Amino acid sequence: MQTGIARRLGCEVPIFAFSHCRDVVVEVTKAGGFGVLGASTFAPEHLEQELRWIDAHVGGKPYGVDIIIPAAYDREAEAMAAPETLIPAQHRGFMERLLAAEGVPELPEDERARVRREIVAGRGAMTPDGARRLLDVTLRHPQVTLVVSALGAPPPDVVARLKERGIMVGALCGKASHAIRQKAAGVEMIVAQGTEAGGHTGDIATMVLVPQVVEACPDIPVLAAGGISRGSQVAAALALGAEGVWTGTIWLGTRESELTPFEKDAVFAARAEDAVRRRARTGKTVRMIRSKLSEAWEQPGAPPYLPTPLQGILYNEMHARVVRAGRRDLYSFPVGQSVASVNEETSVREVMLRLQTEYLAAMDRMTRLAGAE
Ligand SMILES: Cc1cc2nc3c(=O)[nH]c(=O)nc-3n(C[C@H](O)[C@H](O)[C@H](O)COP(=O)(O)O)c2cc1C
Repeated sequence: MQTGIARRLGCEVPIFAFSHCRDVVVEVTKAGGFGVLGASTFAPEHLEQELRWIDAHVGGKPYGVDIIIPAAYDREAEAMAAPETLIPAQHRGFMERLLAAEGVPELPEDERARVRREIVAGRGAMTPDGARRLLDVTLRHPQVTLVVSALGAPPPDVVARLKERGIMVGALCGKASHAIRQKAAGVEMIVAQGTEAGGHTGDIATMVLVPQVVEACPDIPVLAAGGISRGSQVAAALALGAEGVWTGTIWLGTRESELTPFEKDAVFAARAEDAVRRRARTGKTVRMIRSKLSEAWEQPGAPPYLPTPLQGILYNEMHARVVRAGRRDLYSFPVGQSVASVNEETSVREVMLRLQTEYLAAMDRMTRLAGAE
């Protein structure tokens, strides 16, 4: 499994783990993979703390940071100190009425203030300037050797700053045409993310997308993402032309994951068909657990979705109420279809070992099949 990208980035196996949780990033990296911290949920000061902690615990190894830099967003909201004031009363009222009818209590005032502060400064506030502030923090940490951007090609100033420092620039794409645009923008590694994936995701399945992206960008490494939870799928990804895999959902059920026991139980209970694509969370399509909250926005009479970052600011505050109330029927968190194989708590190390053992078994099986011809 020592592919070109693994050699270039200095990891033992090309298993990339996207996580918002620093412990997962550290454990995956220490177990020979490559951890990538999802930074878009943090305010800059908070990101600084997280990266310092990773630097101190990752045993001197390199790791990555993922920053959402949306090509489409609300410019007015980006320029404002208090973008939440742009959320129309109709939208806020819709959510408030729904939660009141379900008997979900309001957050206590101090908790509400904290959530608003966090959401506006980080969580949900995904804009290009917000991303640049996160980049400023990231560049102070030399152990970060890969920065990946999502939701569009990274802007030229961002690419230039990363390349100046010798940091590899990656990007997530859901279509071969996106990959071509990203490569033209200076991206050096593409994550081809199929519709099965948790989080923001497009329409094309991983099995179809990966070879298309490999053909469209033959001279740069491609990682396969979306639906990967077994070693046989890692072998399949390499067979499709990828140099490694990029995973998200499988880490949600690990001991190292930051999800609460209530949230982990919701993940363990979810089936593949419960991982639906909805716009309720950010205004863009996100694959997440189906719930009364996600479905309410799809009903006739629901207000139209707000642009990024406003929908996310509104949704996240309501989500915090749902989590506090422990209401599984209203709980929607990003997960991919591979959530079906996340059924009990394990450790990052166990997952890493299982993926590699299964990979070897799949390779053996293919060798035997080929030999039998
Ligand atoms: C809970 C969760 C949050 C995510 N948030 C982001 C994000 O902030 N930025 C990003 O580039 N990708 C995000 N993703 C997508 C992952 O980077 C990755 O492409 C995806 O999880 C791979 O598919 P899988 O979930 O089937 O493993 C998220 C995925 C999950 C499950």
